[in-house]
Amino acid sequence: MNIAVRYYSQFGRTKTIAEEMADELGVKASSVVDEPVLKEHVDVLFLGGAPYLSIMDPALEEYVNGLDPNMVGCVVLFTTSNWSHRTAIGMRVKLEERGIRVAPGHFYAHMAAIGQSKASARAYAREAAEKAAQIAEAAEHEAPADKGSRVKEFAVEAASVAAFSAVVIVSVVVARRLFKLRS
Ligand SMILES: Cc1cc2nc3c(=O)[nH]c(=O)nc-3n(C[C@H](O)[C@H](O)[C@H](O)COP(=O)(O)O)c2cc1C
Repeated sequence: MNIAVRYYSQFGRTKTIAEEMADELGVKASSVVDEPVLKEHVDVLFLGGAPYLSIMDPALEEYVNGLDPNMVGCVVLFTTSNWSHRTAIGMRVKLEERGIRVAPGHFYAHMAAIGQSKASARAYAREAAEKAAQIAEAAEHEAPADKGSRVKEFAVEAASVAAFSAVVIVSVVVARRLFKLRS
């Protein structure tokens, strides 16, 4: 299983959690500022950040918006903050909008309890990596079905456009005949 851990952290709290997770998974955690692009496909990408005045940092947003869906099997989210979970929720929305799979839930550590959260971050990382890898693998098998259903959707759309056009044409012909009969 190929795993990567990426984070954005201004004050080091999210970085600490990222490093605990990465160490547990036997990989290195990198900041999205230092490594803005995935160089190789990963089965599972751990991605973390925090809110600053209620929004995620633009550098993290840029990373999320630029993530290549073909390079990631499934994303696992984590966040630290004073109270808000909105960075994880916001990342999920943006990733899923772009067709990138995201594992259910996310890891949360309160900013004042980073030290106490290290063990749970490690446990979460182990479990989430397994689950996300299963999601990524299942999705690979699903891919042809997805393509098939898109073809079906297109066929239904084309048939309804054709039916609508036929109704319009018939209505015009009938209206013209009626108009001719009257005049
Ligand atoms: C300028 C600033 C704004 C913050 N705004 C929020 C916020 O809107 N909601 C929240 O829950 N925490 C907020 N926090 C707390 C941070 O999200 C929290 O300290 C987080 O752990 C920082 O992560 P980092 O150390 O990885 O940068 C703010 C902190 C700072 C310094």
